[in-house]
Amino acid sequence: MIAEEQPGDIYTATIYPALPGIDVHSLHEAESSVLHAIPHLRIDTVNACNLNCVFCHTDFSAGIKHMETDDFAFVMSPATLPCLKMITLGCAFEPLLGKHFDEFPSIIQRQRGKITVEIVTNGTLLHKKDLVPWVELGLTKLYVSVFSHIDFVYERTGRGGARLQQIETNLLNVRKRFPNIEIVLVNPVCKANDVDLPGFCRWAFEHIGASSVDIRRAFFVDNPSPGHPAFTYKTAATEELGRSPVLTDVEWKMILQSCSKYISGPPTCLNVPTSEINFDSVRLDPLIRTRIGMAKFLGRISFLFRGIRGTLRV
Ligand SMILES: C[S@@+](CC[C@H](N)C(=O)[O-])C[C@H]1O[C@@H](n2cnc3c(N)ncnc32)[C@H](O)[C@@H]1O
Ligand code: SF4
Repeated sequence: MIAEEQPGDIYTATIYPALPGIDVHSLHEAESSVLHAIPHLRIDTVNACNLNCVFCHTDFSAGIKHMETDDFAFVMSPATLPCLKMITLGCAFEPLLGKHFDEFPSIIQRQRGKITVEIVTNGTLLHKKDLVPWVELGLTKLYVSVFSHIDFVYERTGRGGARLQQIETNLLNVRKRFPNIEIVLVNPVCKANDVDLPGFCRWAFEHIGASSVDIRRAFFVDNPSPGHPAFTYKTAATEELGRSPVLTDVEWKMILQSCSKYISGPPTCLNVPTSEINFDSVRLDPLIRTRIGMAKFLGRISFLFRGIRGTLRV
């Protein structure tokens, strides 16, 4: 188990079944003060994916393993994690591929209404899955990786048989059937898919009905991070594209500028010198919300301004 502290939160970035020697029952040996402080668990229940994205930072070289249902029940039980409030299913692999995906909600049905659930997925298999049990358990948010709104750009980036038409249909169905689920589209941008990002935002907000879009500069490193199942195949991606896949600072800045009307907050930049990761990401909102945000912001400024003038007059 890896406990990662985030501002105001703690994750356990677990159970990466691809890593050797992972045994969830060894959680017993973890310090109970750590387990008792964990409100948010991020968990991978399978170590495989049906795509092979140009930019993907995950290593798929180990044999496929699925987390068994009794291990899942053990991790999720209040006896193991008494303060659990939220789970995020999937983050390094593809959760919908897990052979027990459909069974998990009933295994922890006693947690219904006590936890919220998020799923991080490429969304290509949503048409084969029933989300109702997950919604009943507490699913409120889907993070879906979509690499372009242009079919050949999407397909050359996701590879592995991903079809834009399928993901589009899947997202529209989720939007229609579950209007309350927040859909966040995640787009890691590199030189394979840095095409028409403003068009991507329009498609995401006006056609799909996404709540927000996370555009990030795909990061590439050469070496695995200790304790994580992640590599980024900079060399392989360079060979594939015939040039470096990494966006330069100037290219990234131009992308941000091209989408600036959707940006409602400052970009997140995280530079981790020890692991060579430069993580740049920006949250984009539909125009209407951005305009309301901007109007409120301007309103506050003019209120303050009037306040200052008023004070001066007195
Ligand atoms: C490894 S994926 C696993 C979950 C799922 N298969 C998916 O693609 O959403 C987890 C997240 O990392 C993002 N991601 C993958 N490779 C990345 C990279 N090189 N730089 C930035 N984000 C990346 C994906 O878009 C996704 O949001
Ligand atoms: S980014 Fe997600 S969908 Fe793409 S290869 Fe990696 S795990 Fe699979």
